[in-house]
Amino acid sequence: MTEATTAAPPASAVPFDRWLAARGERAEQALERMLPPAGAHPARLHEAMRYAVLGGGKRVRPLLVYAAGEAGAAPAAALDCAACAVELVHAYSLVHDDLPCMDDDVLRRGRPTVHVQYGEALAMLVGDALQALAFEALAATAAHGAGASATAAMVAELARAAGSQGMAGGQAIDLASVGATLGREAIEDMHRRKTGALLRASVRLGGLCAADAGAAAADSHARRMQALDRYADAIGLAFQVVDDILDVEGDAATLGKTAGKDAKQSKPTYVTAVGLDAARRLAGQLREQAREAIAPLGEAGRRLAGLADLIVLRKS
Ligand code: IPE
Ligand code: IPE
Ligand code: MG
Ligand code: MG
Ligand code: MG
Repeated sequence: MTEATTAAPPASAVPFDRWLAARGERAEQALERMLPPAGAHPARLHEAMRYAVLGGGKRVRPLLVYAAGEAGAAPAAALDCAACAVELVHAYSLVHDDLPCMDDDVLRRGRPTVHVQYGEALAMLVGDALQALAFEALAATAAHGAGASATAAMVAELARAAGSQGMAGGQAIDLASVGATLGREAIEDMHRRKTGALLRASVRLGGLCAADAGAAAADSHARRMQALDRYADAIGLAFQVVDDILDVEGDAATLGKTAGKDAKQSKPTYVTAVGLDAARRLAGQLREQAREAIAPLGEAGRRLAGLADLIVLRKS
């Protein structure tokens, strides 16, 4: 037998659908372990946190962490921590986004929103506690093979992505823009902050988990991070452009959240800025840009390419 036939198949030989299901399940289990048990005191807060996080959602951010990390042979346990961290920040942002003082939504992931189920005050605290838990999860990457300096870089990265110049800042612009007409550049700026920043952080955290991986020489790590950055910029914007399109084209049964909310609440979106056709075209262009950005990674970038397709072609 030749060496080629005896070698284990490369990880990328696993079909994309199976990889997606396996990593989705892995993220689910890691979140389950990270969240305090529902019965732990104070039980109602913990029950509500678990309601906000578990058993729903596409888990796009954890999938990006795994795909970017596996492209650089990052330790799997460190990726679990980073995947939890980004999904916990995301879940917190959704709980607050749905509050009556923000988008006033009653449906999320096919179920009543957290404030409908548990009340507004507890929903606020759920968001606060999920954000804190996210950083606890991320700090644990140091004990799981990521290296102390990579962990410090990751904590700073996630804090910036979630903060006043990232997600929270984007949400502030979103609220201040109700009823306004925003041009394309202003919409892009808002989208890159409110949604793009956390998606970008997901990709970068995966990459950073691989910073100390044995096979990764410093220069190949730097080149990989460059490719990941360009990829993340493209999919970060594409994600919210598609979210805006789905708000117009989708229905609640498919989306698991109320459709037509943006127009009803006079929110400027990519669709109001350039129209539906141009928004669809842009999403397609961003998908191409994302695929081109990771072309230098070769086979190692295959999962990321699949996720770019998923982000742009999704129906929910
Ligand atoms: C919805 O995000 C909110 C936005 C940032 C546009 P997702 O579409 O990723 O929501 P889930 O996690 O799948 O529910
Ligand atoms: C939400 O954007 C972005 C964040 C939660 C940070 P949207 O308000 O468009 O998200 P959906 O449509 O309610 O999921
Ligand atoms: Mg919103
Ligand atoms: Mg909303
Ligand atoms: Mg939306």
